[in-house]
Amino acid sequence: MTKKYTIRIRRYDPQTGKNWYDIHNIYAERRMTVLDALNQINEHERAGISYRSSCRMSICGSCGTIVNGKSVLMCNTFLKDLEDPVTIEPLRNFAIVKDLVVDTDAAMEKLRDALPYTTFSITKSRCESVQTPKQLEKIKQTSQCIKCMLCVSACPIYGLDYNFMGPAAAAIAYRYNKDSRDHVGEKRLDSLTGRNGVWKCNFVGECSNVCPKNVDPAGAIQKMKVMGVLHCIKSALKPKLKSKSKSKK
Ligand code: SF4
Ligand code: FES
Repeated sequence: MTKKYTIRIRRYDPQTGKNWYDIHNIYAERRMTVLDALNQINEHERAGISYRSSCRMSICGSCGTIVNGKSVLMCNTFLKDLEDPVTIEPLRNFAIVKDLVVDTDAAMEKLRDALPYTTFSITKSRCESVQTPKQLEKIKQTSQCIKCMLCVSACPIYGLDYNFMGPAAAAIAYRYNKDSRDHVGEKRLDSLTGRNGVWKCNFVGECSNVCPKNVDPAGAIQKMKVMGVLHCIKSALKPKLKSKSKSKK
């Protein structure tokens, strides 16, 4: 059985600088997603709407938009679950490139500050880094992040201050700091506890509400704050402890 939906799509033409809403009526089956609807509109009506997508299964993280006011992945949002008319707009907190395509480069760049890698050393006798199920459990939730940037789009602090590292970078930093194979934790904490780091978060929690992978970036930021406090105390005490041990010698 099909149902009629009105789809409103925010358009932006970078050449003229014009913004407007396109309105299309479509008949959709129960299983049709917002992404399917856009594909249908582009294919059948030659609408020429620009948007990103790839995997169609919530893995690549490329199809994020605002649908009826909420940051979502279009490929896992079904029309049957939405109020009609359905309004599709580009993600907030990013510059619009064209129609629904936004420029996420600056936010992606911040992921580098989270030092998203482990540094275990490979030797002749040991070329793999083993992790127990218990150790894996600690990072499982935050490892699910697909870098879709929905959390950054939903973050009011990031909207006011683009220098803030943002929830995605914080979640990734937490994931690597908790990794049993990691050896750069201290360096990572130096970067995350700087003036644009985790302290700017006011715990609004909207990032966790919109995360399609239940990563809970808001929770990760709060845990990073505790790690940050301990790291700052340790860093402050370090020179004193050093000088004490020197004088004993
Ligand atoms: S934390 Fe969630 S919302 Fe944010 S980038 Fe990762 S998967 Fe997307
Ligand atoms: S198309 Fe890959 S996450 Fe939606």
